[in-house]
Amino acid sequence: MPTHPPGPPNAWAFLGDIREPSQRRLDAMRSAVETYGNIVSVRLLGRRYYLINHPDLTRAVLVDDAAHYHRTPGQQADRARVLEMGKVTHEREDHRRIRRIIQPAMTPARMSVHVEPMRMMASEHMDKWQPGQSIDIAEDLSRLTIRIAARCLFDAETGVTFDEFGAVLKLAQDYLSNMNRAIKLPIWVPTRDHMRLWSAWGTLTKSIRSMIAARRAAPGQHHDMLENILAAADESDGARLTDKEVEDTMIGLLIAGHETTATLLTWTLYLLAEHPDAEAALHRELDNVLGGRAVTPDDLPRLPYVDAVIRESMRLYPPAWALTRRALAGANLGGYAIDEGAHVFMSPYLAQRDARFYDDPDTFRPERWLDGLEKRIPRYAYFPFGGGSHICTGQFFAWIEAQTLLAALCARWRFVRADDAPVRPRPLITMFPADPLLMLPMQRA
Ligand code: HEM
Repeated sequence: MPTHPPGPPNAWAFLGDIREPSQRRLDAMRSAVETYGNIVSVRLLGRRYYLINHPDLTRAVLVDDAAHYHRTPGQQADRARVLEMGKVTHEREDHRRIRRIIQPAMTPARMSVHVEPMRMMASEHMDKWQPGQSIDIAEDLSRLTIRIAARCLFDAETGVTFDEFGAVLKLAQDYLSNMNRAIKLPIWVPTRDHMRLWSAWGTLTKSIRSMIAARRAAPGQHHDMLENILAAADESDGARLTDKEVEDTMIGLLIAGHETTATLLTWTLYLLAEHPDAEAALHRELDNVLGGRAVTPDDLPRLPYVDAVIRESMRLYPPAWALTRRALAGANLGGYAIDEGAHVFMSPYLAQRDARFYDDPDTFRPERWLDGLEKRIPRYAYFPFGGGSHICTGQFFAWIEAQTLLAALCARWRFVRADDAPVRPRPLITMFPADPLLMLPMQRA
């Protein structure tokens, strides 16, 4: 048996391609799995890289043999650590304990209280649109989802607190989006941008700390995630999170919780604009079920086409398009011993366009989800929210937000592309359109 899985002979060229934050990266990965199979490997400068593309292998890494894989690889870990963001997302001995405590605060039932504020904020947001006025839809929706995150996580609606959130999230996003630049300075180098980020970050953490202190002094006054996380207790011994753990958790939720949903909705509106039949079916469902009134939590299960559109959009353009792990000693995968320290990549983008599991895999067809497809395919043929112990903490929040916003937006408006420029994905940490996607909101009769 060969010691290592096969892979492209020119590792420089291959890894060069997959470092490109463009369609080239996605094409190179796709062509590698088509040529070499479910598990591909290359070695460069003493380090081995594996790309896997089969639900059984993904399950092995994320679930069955997860103890042999570390969540955050090299450079990304350094950057995330520097920004002190997403601490709950990293391997720590207390990661499981923290997840166990916060998970009951993040169930679909607990999330449904957010439908009304989400709908209200969407409505206020739409009131500012002028019919036919061109908007950069990704940027526009990201302002809405930041505002929703501030409101649902911290009951912070407007004014200073919201501006603080918006400013720091934008700076952090810009910083992380530049991760792939050839020349990048460490975050501790006092450039003007770094200093702005640090200063905004300081203001944000200070304001989160003071909110935590105020809530501890007078609990039960708010209906937001901070209140739920502060009240959450370990079922086994009743222990609660410390103030520092609450702070880290809330920052992790804030950072992870707005861009992804804005990206999902951006791709969804784009796909609907390109597929008039699907758009018409969506409008029919919204008109039948809502009949012009505002969407409520009880409506969401009665909107199967909305659900299918979101599912299908996330299949073709999963915002978290790649997951990475670092192998620890003793990892085995697909009959191969995996090198210690090797990087292992799994991609929902590849898996969810795999012809072994999806007919006509590159075509947007929401109907495919309406007859129980999800139950017929293997669990890890569709994993936009990941899996195992790091599965997305906010998946039910994200789902409810996507349903509510799509229903609220499309009940009143349709979205027409302002030009016919090609739309290509830019696969960075999240996968969003490479160029501004200009759309014209048109009021529906
Ligand atoms: C469409 C929207 C979203 C998508 C596609 C998405 C996707 C993901 C994925 C794939 C992971 C796992 C990454 C890995 O295993 O390496 C993840 C983790 C995470 N997500 Fe999401 N996410 C979304 C929205 C949200 C929202 C709204 C929140 C918070 C309110 C959130 C909070 C988190 C957190 C805290 C983690 C880290 C979990 C851990 O490591 O234990 N996400 N997300």
